[in-house]
Amino acid sequence: MKLNKLKIGKTETPGNLLLAPMADVTNLAFRLLCRQNGADLTYTEMISADALLNENRKALLKGLSSPEDRPFGVQLVGSSPEKLREAALFIEDEYRPEIIDINMGCPAQRITRAGCGSALLNSKTLVYEIISELTDVLQTPVTVKIRILKTDEKTLEIARLVEKAGASALTVHGRRAEQMYSGSSDLAAIRAVKQELSIPVIANGDIRDEESAENALEFTGCDGLMIGRAAMGNTFIFKRIRHYLETGERLEVDRQARQLGDFNNYIALLEEHDLYTSTNLRMHAHWFTKGLHGSRQIREKINNLKDGKAMIELIRNFSTEKY
Ligand SMILES: Cc1cc2nc3c(=O)[nH]c(=O)nc-3n(C[C@H](O)[C@H](O)[C@H](O)COP(=O)(O)O)c2cc1C
Repeated sequence: MKLNKLKIGKTETPGNLLLAPMADVTNLAFRLLCRQNGADLTYTEMISADALLNENRKALLKGLSSPEDRPFGVQLVGSSPEKLREAALFIEDEYRPEIIDINMGCPAQRITRAGCGSALLNSKTLVYEIISELTDVLQTPVTVKIRILKTDEKTLEIARLVEKAGASALTVHGRRAEQMYSGSSDLAAIRAVKQELSIPVIANGDIRDEESAENALEFTGCDGLMIGRAAMGNTFIFKRIRHYLETGERLEVDRQARQLGDFNNYIALLEEHDLYTSTNLRMHAHWFTKGLHGSRQIREKINNLKDGKAMIELIRNFSTEKY
C-alpha cells in the first residue's frame, strides 16, 4: 500500500498520482480523461499572469475547467509578485481551484528571457517574495514546481525558502534547467529535498511505467508522483501504475483497443466542452495513434487538414475501422 491520500494544505486528494502541467497538452478534455483513468489531481498548463491581466481573459481562459474537473490546480507563470498576486486572486475568485501552482521550472527561452519559470531560481529574494505574496492573500493552497539546481545544497536552499514562504507542497523535476530534457531525472536530488522539508514533496521526471513509478516512490520517499510525457496518448498509465503499486501485478490490456477507446473519449470530451482546436487535436491524434496499425497514414492525412471537424471525422473513421 504505497499509494496514500495527499494532503496539500486544506486540499485532500484521493490518491497521490498527479498529472503534470503541460503547455498545449493538458487542456480540460485531456485532464478529464486522465482523471477518468485514475489521475488524482491534474494541473492546467501554465497561464501567463501578464497575459491574464493584459489580454482578453475570456479567450485565454476559455474551457479552463468544469464542475467534473475536481480537484484541479491552475498553474501560473510570471515574474512580478504583484501581477502574480492579482492574477491568482482573479483565478481563485472565478474558478475556485483546489490548488494554485507557480511555475519555477520552465526552461524554455521564451519564458526565461522574461525572467519567468526556471529563471526565478536565480533570485532567492524573488522566489520568497512571490510565494509569500500569494500565500498571504489567497485562501487556496499554493504549490510550487521547480527543477533542481547545480548542487544539492543550492536546491535545498530554494526548497527551504519555498516552505518558509508558506507553500503547501513542492514538486521537483530532477533535471537542471540547462539540461532541458537530456539525461535522466536525478532521484537522489529529489530524495534530498524530501528529507529536508515537512510539506509534501512530489517527485517528477521520467516516470513512464509501473517499475519507474515504484522505484521513484521507494527511492525518494516522496509523498506523490507527477507524470507528464508518459501520459500523452496513454492516459491509462494512471490505472496501470495504481494497480501495480496496490497489488504488485500488472494490468493486462489490449493496447490498440485501449488507445483508440481513449482517443474516442478524448474527442467526445473536446466536443462536449467546445474545445476542438487544431492544437488540441493534431498532436494528441499523433500520440493516441502512436504505434498502432495504420497510424502513419493517419498522421500524414492529419497534417494536411486544417479544419477541426474534418480531423474529427477522419479520426472517428480510423477508430471505428480499426476496432
Ligand atoms: C510539451 C510539454 C509542455 C510542458 N509544459 C509545462 C508547463 O506548462 N508547466 C510546467 O511546470 N511544466 C511543463 N512541462 C514540464 C512537465 O510538467 C514535466 O515537469 C516534465 O515533462 C518532466 O516530467 P515527465 O518526465 O513525466 O514528462 C512541460 C513538458 C512538456 C513535454
